[in-house]
Amino acid sequence: MRRKLVAGNWKMFGSLARNQALVTDVLAGLPQGNCEVAVCPPYVYLAQVAQLTAGSRVQLGAQDLSPKAEGAYTGDVAGPMLKELGATLVLVGHSERRHGHGENDSQVAEKFVAAQAHGLLPVLCLGETLAEREAGETELVLARQLDAVTQRAGVAALANAVLAYEPVWAIGTGKTASPEQAEAAHAFLRSRIAKQDAMIADSLRILYGGSVKAGNAEAIFAKPNVDGGLIGGASLVVQEFLSIIAAAR
Ligand code: G3P
Repeated sequence: MRRKLVAGNWKMFGSLARNQALVTDVLAGLPQGNCEVAVCPPYVYLAQVAQLTAGSRVQLGAQDLSPKAEGAYTGDVAGPMLKELGATLVLVGHSERRHGHGENDSQVAEKFVAAQAHGLLPVLCLGETLAEREAGETELVLARQLDAVTQRAGVAALANAVLAYEPVWAIGTGKTASPEQAEAAHAFLRSRIAKQDAMIADSLRILYGGSVKAGNAEAIFAKPNVDGGLIGGASLVVQEFLSIIAAAR
């Protein structure tokens, strides 16, 4: 039985005052349950949110990391720095990095390896664009993105990782993948991994991300190959986020 995980990706939103209010209210309203919860604030708020969540059930995550441990890389942030601030997990390959910052599969694979090298759980984000889906290339894209990591890190590395299927066309659009579409993509990913290692495939958590809201979370999370969610906009709205966590029983 895979323990569900709900992670809030705050993207480039927040302020010291809003973060304080949001985290305080989320902690106060956390529903009972076994689901793991994490929030991923912008880098600049990691120390504040680490302090606010210290000792609570809510883990701290980062939204990206450098593939390097240190060096002359202006503007970048390294895994050891995230770990030092209390992060336990880090998103790698989010589509807003792949499509917004030109990150290719190889660079994502290096970030995946760096995350594990520095004791962070990588949440590997995968997903197709609308054009790729409409061209019938969804599985081709997911296979390419997944294989880039397993070929670089080895399939065994997935024993200490989480996947997040985030169809690009569902991110921030309000156009959520149907539970059936999510399940089909998750089942494809899990079956592809099972061809190499059935035990890892069975234990690996695969989150769904892309316009998850309180109103659709239950149906999506009920699918056998969906193990929780990576939540964008709704993670910034207390009651929405709490309802989504409650749905991840
Ligand atoms: O990483 C989660 C994010 O990409 C989903 O965003 O706003 O569609 O929930 P949103």
